[in-house]
Amino acid sequence: MSLQNQVYPVLWQADHVLLIDQTRLPNEYALVEISRSDDMAQAIKTMIVRGAPAIGVAAAYGMYLGAREIEVGDLKETSASSDRDFFLTQLEAVAQKLRTTRPTAVNLFWAIERMLKTARQTLGSVDYLKQVLLETAQQINAEDIETCQAIGDYGLSVLPREPHKLRLLTHCNAGALATAGYGTALGVVRSTWAADRLERVYADETRPRLQGAKLTAWECVQEGIPVTVITDNMAAHCMQQGMIDAVVVGADRIAANGDTANKIGTYSVALIAKAHNIPFFVAAPLSTIDFKITNGNQIPIEERDPVEVYQVGDTMLCPPGVEYYNPAFDVTPAALITAIVTEHGAFSPSQLQGELSEKVV
Ligand code: MRU
Repeated sequence: MSLQNQVYPVLWQADHVLLIDQTRLPNEYALVEISRSDDMAQAIKTMIVRGAPAIGVAAAYGMYLGAREIEVGDLKETSASSDRDFFLTQLEAVAQKLRTTRPTAVNLFWAIERMLKTARQTLGSVDYLKQVLLETAQQINAEDIETCQAIGDYGLSVLPREPHKLRLLTHCNAGALATAGYGTALGVVRSTWAADRLERVYADETRPRLQGAKLTAWECVQEGIPVTVITDNMAAHCMQQGMIDAVVVGADRIAANGDTANKIGTYSVALIAKAHNIPFFVAAPLSTIDFKITNGNQIPIEERDPVEVYQVGDTMLCPPGVEYYNPAFDVTPAALITAIVTEHGAFSPSQLQGELSEKVV
């Protein structure tokens, strides 16, 4: 499929990164120029860039930008090896700053570790190390697009073979905006559309930040993919009415047993899909699987500012004196997941461990 219509939320340009400001979509398409690692950390925290794989790519560039800021020449009478030690210590500090931006999406930590490992294993001058770090970030960026296309195609191959074109439901935004391009869950939607097997996609609006209504809908409109936005509490009704053939969602972190953290509300979608005998697919790259943790209880769940719950635009939704709870993600138990679609194929949750765990870079 051609990439011409594609959206690239994180793009390296000459000497800086361009981010699509996702907090402004769909009303405004604005680009933000990022030249410093502090600004990249802030962009991840404030969700200018969001979505697990996109956060990973952004963090990789953040690592390079931080590396670029490290000046070893200031040290008097240094040897090449102390320059290198100093550089690696400073780079660890950059990594630590980026690690504190968002806790749930494991792609962030995966990308940071890959950059650190590259730096540690690369021999040569500090200038050479910096160059290799830029190339590694660019590689992570390029790989993610290929990965998403493979996920899209494997996803298409496991979707139900109905006599009619498919009606797919998705939650949040796991599209081009949430990756380096193409998307995971929305990658499956794109591949299904390209194969002329999609009737339409139903997008849960995804309270509180409305990634479905704002971002998934925007992406679909860009490509002419038929999309119907529903509020989150309409999904069960749509399933009961026979309007949905399959659910496809993304993931922020998948435990070794297949338990999957994704945007808050995903768990309820999985439950109602099970109740209606509708297949529930998770589409995610290998970099989203955290083989270090055995089950979903160990996944850290980000809690965000309650303002996201009580205020929409300038409108206060609740009376004073109310308390709030705003977890950004929930965990869908593996038992509710039909298959996890990766760039290496589709696996039942129980199949994740084994040969797949050896493929993680
Ligand atoms: O809080 P967000 O918008 O970063 O959450 C995004 C999601 O939950 C996505 O579904 C997930 O990151 C997968 S993106 C391919």
